[in-house]
Amino acid sequence: MKEEKKIKLAVLGCGNMAAALVTRFCNEFENLDVFTFTPTNKRAVELAERVGGQACKTIVEIPECQFYLVGCKPQQFDELAEMLRPHLNGSAVIVSMMAGKSTEVISKKLESPKIIRVMPNTPSQIGKGVQLLYFSKSVDANEQNFVEELFSSSGELFIFQNEDQIDLVTPHCGSGPAFIFELARILIADLEEKGISRIGAEKMIKYMLYGASSLLLNSTDSPTELRNMVTSKGGVTAEALGELERGNLEEVFKTAIKKAHKRAKDLSY
Ligand SMILES: NC(=O)c1ccc[n+]([C@@H]2O[C@H](COP(=O)([O-])OP(=O)(O)OC[C@H]3O[C@@H](n4cnc5c(N)ncnc54)[C@H](OP(=O)(O)O)[C@@H]3O)[C@@H](O)[C@H]2O)c1
Repeated sequence: MKEEKKIKLAVLGCGNMAAALVTRFCNEFENLDVFTFTPTNKRAVELAERVGGQACKTIVEIPECQFYLVGCKPQQFDELAEMLRPHLNGSAVIVSMMAGKSTEVISKKLESPKIIRVMPNTPSQIGKGVQLLYFSKSVDANEQNFVEELFSSSGELFIFQNEDQIDLVTPHCGSGPAFIFELARILIADLEEKGISRIGAEKMIKYMLYGASSLLLNSTDSPTELRNMVTSKGGVTAEALGELERGNLEEVFKTAIKKAHKRAKDLSY
């Protein structure tokens, strides 16, 4: 147990991401009193059962909490804000996981000054996440420390002083795992098409990605150097990389990232 005092945490929206994070918080901190809410109640009950919390059928049932984790989608926030605003006092800390939604908009809609933005990613489920964080000026040092401790149970923290940078990095780190999973899918499907069993293909590609990621993380060599080590002139890898270059892979990625960033900006209001 890392904290002595019981801290009340409301979880508003208990989808995959919020449920995974809160499960890790509760494994790490015994001093959390968790209250969950979702419009259909089902996932609120499931999460409350898993972490020994209390599922609330309405926002009114949630007692006054120090921290409110907003785990719904940005498009669902207006509806939540209407219900939540009357129950907040100025001291509540709102921790938003919503992609793109700015602290200014969240603060205005909830009439609350203390806003924290966090952009986790799905490897947070296994404690290997990248968590991008931004604290609005009204959040005090104790509140900031507590939230940093909570989220460090799910992976590495990267704290930004400039909110725009969270939106800038969201496609790389929030969406990034999807790029890797898509690559895994393509490679597995190709092996299967060529007669390798699905089980064998999955195992090989998973280990290949695991090994490459571990090498990247632990090596002092840059990605370019590591790539060059696999690529001998006139060899097999050089042939494949040449084709990716001719297909403008870098440009395709840059365009995809640009579009994701624009989408985050569109969702900010
Ligand atoms: N998935 C990721 O990798 C990822 C990464 C970083 C951040 N995020 C952010 O995490 C948030 C949730 O994503 P997700 O993939 O976990 O979504 P999800 O699985 O669709 O979960 C959304 C949850 O919000 C609830 N909800 C809907 N309307 C609500 C309202 N008015 N008030 C309170 N709760 C409401 C839903 O309730 P029901 O169960 O009743 O439908 C559901 O439990 C998004 O804002 C996203 O930007 C996701």
